[in-house]
Amino acid sequence: MGSAFAPPRFLRSLCLCFILLVGGTQAEITVYHDNNQAAFTTAPGAQYTGPAAYNPTSLTPPPLPSPTVLTTIPVNLQNAGTPNLSIKQKGSFFGFSIEMSVTNQVLGKNSTFIQVPFLNLMANIVQRAGSVMVRVGGNTQESAKLVDTLPNGRVLAKNLTGVTGTTQTPPLDYTPDLFYMMRNISSFVNVHWFLGIPWFITQPFDLAIVPAATEILGDYLLGFQAGNEPDMYSIPSHGHRPATYSPNDYSGEFSNLLTQIDATNSDPTGQGKAKLIGPNIANFNWKPEDVWNTGFVDTFDSNLAYLAVEKYPRDNCAAAYGGPNAVITDPQTIINLYLTHDAHTTLLAPYLNSTMYAQTKNKPFLMFETNTASCGGFLGISDSFTATLWALDYALEMAHSNFSGAMFHLGGQNVFYNPFTSPPTNQSTFHQWTVGAIYYSALVMAEVIGPSNNTQVLSYAADGLSSFTPIYGIYENGTPVRVAVMNYLDDPTGASDVHAVIAIAGTTMPASVKVKYLAAKTVVQKGGYTWANQTFGGNFESDGRLMGTEEIKSVDCDATAQTCTVVVPAPGFALVFLNDDAFTEDKGAASMTFATTARTRTHNTATVDPAVLSTSNGYKMSDHEMAGTSKPPKGAAPRTAQASLIAVGLVIGTIVAMLGRAS
Ligand SMILES: *[C@@H]1O[C@H](CO)[C@@H](O)[C@H](O)[C@H]1NC(C)=O
Ligand SMILES: *[C@@H]1O[C@H](CO)[C@@H](O)[C@H](O)[C@H]1NC(C)=O
Ligand SMILES: *[C@@H]1O[C@H](CO)[C@@H](O)[C@H](O)[C@H]1NC(C)=O
Ligand SMILES: *[C@@H]1O[C@H](CO)[C@@H](O)[C@H](O)[C@H]1NC(C)=O
Ligand SMILES: *[C@@H]1O[C@H](CO)[C@@H](O)[C@H](O)[C@H]1NC(C)=O
Ligand SMILES: *[C@@H]1O[C@H](CO)[C@@H](O)[C@H](O)[C@H]1NC(C)=O
Ligand SMILES: *[C@@H]1O[C@H](CO)[C@@H](O)[C@H](O)[C@H]1NC(C)=O
Ligand SMILES: *[C@@H]1O[C@H](CO)[C@@H](O)[C@H](O)[C@H]1NC(C)=O
Ligand SMILES: *[C@@H]1O[C@H](CO)[C@@H](O)[C@H](O)[C@H]1NC(C)=O
Repeated sequence: MGSAFAPPRFLRSLCLCFILLVGGTQAEITVYHDNNQAAFTTAPGAQYTGPAAYNPTSLTPPPLPSPTVLTTIPVNLQNAGTPNLSIKQKGSFFGFSIEMSVTNQVLGKNSTFIQVPFLNLMANIVQRAGSVMVRVGGNTQESAKLVDTLPNGRVLAKNLTGVTGTTQTPPLDYTPDLFYMMRNISSFVNVHWFLGIPWFITQPFDLAIVPAATEILGDYLLGFQAGNEPDMYSIPSHGHRPATYSPNDYSGEFSNLLTQIDATNSDPTGQGKAKLIGPNIANFNWKPEDVWNTGFVDTFDSNLAYLAVEKYPRDNCAAAYGGPNAVITDPQTIINLYLTHDAHTTLLAPYLNSTMYAQTKNKPFLMFETNTASCGGFLGISDSFTATLWALDYALEMAHSNFSGAMFHLGGQNVFYNPFTSPPTNQSTFHQWTVGAIYYSALVMAEVIGPSNNTQVLSYAADGLSSFTPIYGIYENGTPVRVAVMNYLDDPTGASDVHAVIAIAGTTMPASVKVKYLAAKTVVQKGGYTWANQTFGGNFESDGRLMGTEEIKSVDCDATAQTCTVVVPAPGFALVFLNDDAFTEDKGAASMTFATTARTRTHNTATVDPAVLSTSNGYKMSDHEMAGTSKPPKGAAPRTAQASLIAVGLVIGTIVAMLGRAS
């Protein structure tokens, strides 16, 4: 830490350029698309064979409910004294969980080579929420080994000898430069980090991560996970503990950890032992109460910074990894389970006792890792507008249920559920990033909650309200300031549009309210969703900045009836701002964007028909893998020179501080 890092105020200066010219020409290729156009299609009859993250296959929306449900909905709020509001929430509620093995694709190559699209994606959240929480970990944290150096300045290398387990996780070697990269990211955008201590082997624990991460990340380190889904350690496929492994055994290991940290002097700052996170169970072999009842929280009160669980509603492991008895789920048969609010209340019911318990112990309670389905999610669900609505409703219901944050997981090219995906390393000269369905949920959630740290959420309950139209009241100091209305129905005729008739007892309704819409044509749309008319486009189209013109609707209220009626299309979501102060965009932090040369050097930009790129598996740009270890082959084709431009695209360009928007 310390002098190696530039002070935050340096972000205020304009045009701070760290152009890492790695040489070569300036020819670049940009893919153009209309905003609302789904990006990729295969030729009729052709079977898609590329990476899962870009599979264009889409499903059919589920049928409309019969009989029809209530769509003209009275939303009767009160100006003060509302019971059952959530605990106070932060705008950073919706965070990300990045599988450790892909950090060198997502965060950057190393501490001096940070991915600009990642910075932009985080800056969008910080602008609205003030900060963002990112967990680096997952299955790969358990066997990750900190080494001094790796060949060719790499931060990460998979050790493919001895790949095991359901998720076939290769052991990882990584260097301290991963933490410097994270710390450097935090000096650009206000990202705070979670990490995990490897827990498969406890005698002795590999504690190298503790002094390295606490010293390098300092206050940007939120905590260390003590074990990742320990209640799954003993199941046959994992097999890291005997079948008798219990919450008491886990507590014993936690205690051993502390003893070993002391014995090895691994926590010189004292921060590591005070920032632990447990029990991170999956509600699989143990219920949370099984852990609480061992006295875990009292015993380790001074060590536990957070309590946490992890939960996916279901898994798609059969499709991802097969196996003798694998029964593969057809996503079309379950898409309806992702388009109903009841799915969330059912999933979260087992945790309500624990979130109340956590309050009595003064501990924030996190959903540490989640997404649509473990083992990569479902094609057509996890990568469509269905997931956008699902994740936003899920996050809001968690906020209502007194969780203090939720991290949505992302992996590599081989999964469907990524909030964002960097292009395959050998395609990053001609492809930009792909912003997935769930990133939009994160962006909108940041704006729903806002940056005050004082926001309370209430899942609105009313007689006759169906599971297809959840509504939330958002409160500051006990007064409703925003209303969030979701419509899961898919009906292009307009007959299923929701008319939310908002009234607030105890105050006079304003003459008009402002509304922002999260929109797509159908729940099965892939890419090109819009938030207030802005988008990140389709596959390979984003540098992490919103594109298009922001559109904020103004809806006149009925002064006589004292109601404001907001129409929400089927499908869709609306955020209603009840007063001008309730506008939160830009209130978290000044808007910052990090330009890539791909955007600024348009004079050298070539346009490529996306239909050509969609079959670009056969595109023989170069055999040189950009994140790879070898130098470009001597006498390589001219396109190799283009390949080196990746490096240019990706270093920090101009930082534009917009003046605060009028409100
Ligand atoms: C508050 O929440 C509890 C538990 O969910 C419920 O039983 C009660 O009816 C709610 N009270 C009000 C006034 O909504
Ligand atoms: C990061 O990677 C770049 C490009 O490969 C290299 O030039 C640079 O030296 C590396 N930085 C560190 C700190 O290893
Ligand atoms: C890779 O894994 C094997 C098997 O676990 C181990 O013996 C070897 O030391 C590891 N190599 C490195 C470079 O960590
Ligand atoms: C990033 O980290 C390295 C340490 O490897 C440091 O030398 C460098 O100045 C940092 N860069 C920025 C932009 O903060
Ligand atoms: C709630 O949790 C507490 C603490 O573990 C436990 O004593 C109690 O039995 C639980 N209540 C229910 C209904 O599960
Ligand atoms: C959340 O916590 C608040 C404050 O303790 C409580 O009033 C409310 O009922 C809780 N909500 C749920 C869904 O448990
Ligand atoms: C919200 O809390 C964070 C710490 O989690 C703090 O850095 C930030 O300043 C707080 N924001 C406000 C508006 O108090
Ligand atoms: C919405 O965005 C599109 C694309 O940027 C733009 O052409 C259009 O004018 C915008 N609509 C409004 C009402 O701002
Ligand atoms: C990129 O690498 C993958 C895996 O090695 C390979 O299948 C694909 O053909 C390569 N694509 C290009 C454009 O070189």
